[in-house]
Amino acid sequence: MPELQWKEDLELGVARMDATHREFVERYNALAGAGPDDFAARLDEFAAHTEAHFAQENRWMEAVGFPGCHRGEHDRVLAVVNDIRKRVAGGDLFLGRRLVEELPAWFANHTSGMDAALAFHLQSIGFDVEREAFVAREDGSCGPQGGGCGCATLSAAPEPAA
Ligand SMILES: [Fe+2]
Ligand SMILES: [Fe+2]
Repeated sequence: MPELQWKEDLELGVARMDATHREFVERYNALAGAGPDDFAARLDEFAAHTEAHFAQENRWMEAVGFPGCHRGEHDRVLAVVNDIRKRVAGGDLFLGRRLVEELPAWFANHTSGMDAALAFHLQSIGFDVEREAFVAREDGSCGPQGGGCGCATLSAAPEPAA
């Protein structure tokens, strides 16, 4: 039975992303260990996780204007998973088992490639994924390249002098 092990090199240093990836591993292992009677239910749970997992990363990419093909890859994988769900719901488990075989290599590649690049970028520009906002650096600058956009400002600013 295929099984995914959580390894230290899967940690990307963005706690919320790492927690989501641990959940991916748990959902995957539940799916890989499912028998014919509960495979469809475990696949539904895996698909629900995957949708939320990808939506979270897509939201962060949109918030920081992250360029590239990462979102498209999420969309493609989700389309495949949902297609296979329909087949499995109809009683055809063959492609479901193929998905179980292919997911570990996909996850290793995706995490060490696209997700690692996103995690590095989020950290380097000071984007706080808990608050989904930019945080000020120690020198007081914040936002991409320290440009200051998107940072919190004083709410009790004095009226500008006439
Ligand atoms: Fe991810
Ligand atoms: Fe991703």
